[in-house]
Amino acid sequence: MAMTKPAVQPDISRPSTKPSNPRFSSGPCAKPPAFSFEGLSDAALGRSHRAKIGKDKLAAAIDGTREILGVPDDYRIGIVPASDTGAFEMAMWTMLGQRPVEMVAWESFGAGWVTDAVKQLKLDARVHEADYGAIVDMASLDYDRDVCFTWNGTTSGVRMPNGDAIPADRGGLTLCDATSAAFAQDLPWDKLDVTTFSWQKVLGGEAAHGMLILSPRAVERLESYTPAWPLPKIFRLTKGSKLIEGIFKGETINTPSMLAVEDYLLALDWARSVGGLKGLMDRADANAKAIWDFCDARDWIDNLATDPATRSNTSVCLKFTDPRITDGAAFAKAVAKRLETEGVALDVGAYRDAPAGLRIWCGGTVETSDIEAMMPWLDWAFAAEIDAQAQAA
Ligand SMILES: Cc1ncc(COP(=O)(O)O)c(C=O)c1O
Repeated sequence: MAMTKPAVQPDISRPSTKPSNPRFSSGPCAKPPAFSFEGLSDAALGRSHRAKIGKDKLAAAIDGTREILGVPDDYRIGIVPASDTGAFEMAMWTMLGQRPVEMVAWESFGAGWVTDAVKQLKLDARVHEADYGAIVDMASLDYDRDVCFTWNGTTSGVRMPNGDAIPADRGGLTLCDATSAAFAQDLPWDKLDVTTFSWQKVLGGEAAHGMLILSPRAVERLESYTPAWPLPKIFRLTKGSKLIEGIFKGETINTPSMLAVEDYLLALDWARSVGGLKGLMDRADANAKAIWDFCDARDWIDNLATDPATRSNTSVCLKFTDPRITDGAAFAKAVAKRLETEGVALDVGAYRDAPAGLRIWCGGTVETSDIEAMMPWLDWAFAAEIDAQAQAA
């Protein structure tokens, strides 16, 4: 791709305008533009989460999630402890082990679930990995086994283009970590038995709570299979081989933060105001396109995702490709530092385990005008750093 690009010389003059919100972190992500602390004044603080007021708010968080994500009526949605990690590990620990498992990873969070399966649970696992920027061939998997995968690789900017490779009549369960995909990408519910995400990502909510979405087949597994290992209380979803239905009505396993719940309800309201899922996806698409267009017009920067069909519209990961760069990691860090020092882009360095580069969050809470205002600063920071490197040589 870099070969066909025009050799645009970056404009090195300092841009005159800055983004009004420089928060482009990939988690916790920018709050919705409508966010204000006053908006949280209705929070059920100092009240029991088991009182009617608390239970109603928790139920509204579940109902709003179903409404905006279009989750089928016969799927359960639960609010669980420990964010996405809690939700995904709860699913792994309670459902896996009944049959062999396909573990799929194309970046560090998926790799973390591989470690859980292989080193902790010691499952009969087949591991399929792809390098950062690439994706595993999902059609090559055996879906009579359980399959664990991450829909959008937050640290590589590579996502599943669709769920077509997953057969409708599979024998195993699909466990999908959709943390950086939910509310920005279309999730085919009929292909997903377990879906998890955390509030701190696409809707800009607070950390701490995870969402666990179960298909009827996942519930069937929970009610018909008991793992060989002990389960701590915060992982237990059944009692006497029956699903604890209360968890999926807002009767949380342990105490939730009612402030975080209120914040999530506010985020759901904002999501409705921008047109629900379609509006959120359009916003993320527009943000990502602004960056892709920027990269297409320059011969020194490129998407880390090699196949355009798998490019993320949330965690957009970029690599510098200029042959003049002598130390890629130091260069990328220095560019990110310049952007941060100028107050134009915060937290845009690549994830610690990912290849050197930048990662710019494009989920719906980010305004396209802020992305557009930030990009000229990237031209500026790149040129300034090339210059600094030449001076130091
Ligand atoms: C794909 C993915 N999975 C899991 C996690 C962990 O999420 P949490 O820290 O909310 O548990 C993240 C966080 O960035 C993620 O991006």
